[in-house]
Amino acid sequence: MLQTVLMSTAAEAFRLPPGPKSPRFLNGLLFLVAQRWSTRRLQHRWGDIYTVELPVIGTTVVVSHPELIKTVFTAKPTVLHAGKNPLGSLLGPGSLFSMDEDRHLEERRTLLPPFHGDRMRSYDELIEEEAMGAMQAWPEGTAFPTIDTFKRTTLRVILRAVFGAEGSGLADLEQLLPRLTALGQRLVTIPILRRDFGPWTPGGRYAAMRRRYDELVGVLVDERLADAELDQRIDILALMLTPLRQAKAEINRSELADELLTLLVAGHETTASSLAWTVERLRRHPQMLRRLEREAEDDSSTLRTATIHEVHRTRPVIGATGRMAMRPFQLGEWRLPPGTRVVTQISATHEDERFHVHAADFDPDRYVGQKPDTYAWIPFGGGLRRCIGAAFAQLEMDVVIRTMLRHFELVPTDAPGERQSFRGVAFAPAKGGVAVVHRRREPLGSNEAPALQRVGAG
Ligand code: HEM
Repeated sequence: MLQTVLMSTAAEAFRLPPGPKSPRFLNGLLFLVAQRWSTRRLQHRWGDIYTVELPVIGTTVVVSHPELIKTVFTAKPTVLHAGKNPLGSLLGPGSLFSMDEDRHLEERRTLLPPFHGDRMRSYDELIEEEAMGAMQAWPEGTAFPTIDTFKRTTLRVILRAVFGAEGSGLADLEQLLPRLTALGQRLVTIPILRRDFGPWTPGGRYAAMRRRYDELVGVLVDERLADAELDQRIDILALMLTPLRQAKAEINRSELADELLTLLVAGHETTASSLAWTVERLRRHPQMLRRLEREAEDDSSTLRTATIHEVHRTRPVIGATGRMAMRPFQLGEWRLPPGTRVVTQISATHEDERFHVHAADFDPDRYVGQKPDTYAWIPFGGGLRRCIGAAFAQLEMDVVIRTMLRHFELVPTDAPGERQSFRGVAFAPAKGGVAVVHRRREPLGSNEAPALQRVGAG
C-alpha cells in the first residue's frame, strides 16, 4: 500500500493514509459542484480513511468509520481545533465558530444551560404559534415547496426564543436578517469580496447591514438590562444576560451580537431544510405518514422522534464536520502532522450497511425504543463541538411536524425522491420539499389543538 511518510523535526514519523493523487484544483472543483457524489466515490475507492488535497483547505484526512470518528470527537481541544472556519471570520470574534480551547469551553458553559433539553419545552407554544401562522398561507390541492414556510418559521422562532425580539424590533430583524445572511453566505465563498470598497460594493453593503444589525441588537440588550423582571423572561438572550447583570460584569455588545448571529446562521436554514426533507420523505412513505397521523391525535411523540432521527440519518443537511490538528494526532494506525485538516464525512457513515441495517431504507422504526449510536449517527457532529442547538432543533421539528399533521392532510406521491442540493449552509431538497395538502376541517386531537388562525407576535 502506498503511504505518504513525512518526518517531523523530532524525528517522529508522520504517516498519512493513502488517497487520490488527482490535483488539488480538480478535487476542489468536484467538491464544489458535486460534493455528495465525489465524496461517495472517494469513500468507495479508498475506504474508511483517506487523504485528499484541497485548494485553500490543504491536506485533508477524511474519516467515516465510527471508531475513527470517536477518536476525532474525543480528542483534546488543544490537539484538534475547529480550524479557521470561514463562517467564524465573517461572524466575528464573539462567535463560537471563531473560538478554541479555554475560550471556547467557557463560551459553551455560558450557552449550554439555556440550551439544555429540559428547558426547551417552554418554547413549545411559541413554535406552534409560529408554525400555524406560517402554514396559514398554504394552498390546497396544488403542489408547492414547503421550505420557504419552514425558513420563515425557523427564523421567527429563533428571533423570538433566542433574541427575545418582539414588536417593531422583531419586524426589523425579520426584514434585515435574510438579506444579511444571504449576502454573508456569498462572501464566505469569495473572501476578497468581503472588503468594504464603498456602499455599492458587496463588502460595503454587508458592512452597512451589519452596522444596522448591531444597532438593533444593542437596543434589545439595553431593554433587557433595564427590565426589572429579566429573570422571568424565557428567551436565551435574557438567560445569558441574567448572570452577567447579577455579577455586574462588563458586557461586550459586539461579541454578544456575533454570538446571536451565529445561533441564527447555524440554526435557521439547517432546521428548515430538515423539515422540508421530512415532508419529502413522508409523502413517499404513506404507511408511516398514517401511523404518524394517528400518533398526532394525542400527546405521544415516540414515532415522531424516531422519524426525525431517521430523516437526519438518511438526509443529513450538514455534509461534514471539520477540525484542524494543532499537534501530532494519532488517528487509528496513522499519525497526522500539525496543520492537517480532519473531516468526518457524515453522510458516508450514515449510508454504511455495516453500521445501519438496510441503510438505504427510510425506516423510523429502527429508532423506536432505540437511541441512535453516538458515533454512527452524527448529524449534529460530536464531542466538545457538538451542535449546541441539537435539543432546540429536535423540539422545533417535533412541534412543527405535529402542527402540520394535526391541521393538514399531506397527499402521498410516487414521484422520485428529490435530489440533495447545497444551498450555502445546508443540503436541502432540490425542489424545496414539494407538498400537496388539504386542510382538515376538524384538526386531529381537536380537544387540544386550537383552530388554525394567525396568532402574530406583534
Ligand atoms: C437540524 C438542525 C441542525 C443541524 C443538523 C445542525 C448540525 C450541526 C453540526 C453538524 C455542527 C458541527 C458540530 C461539530 O463540528 O462536531 C453544528 C454546530 C453548531 N450548531 Fe448546529 N445544527 C442544527 C441546528 C442548530 C440550532 C437550532 C442552533 C442554535 C439555535 C445551532 C447552533 C450551533 C452552534 C452554535 C454550533 C457550533 C458549536 C461549537 O463550535 O461549539 N444548530 N451544528
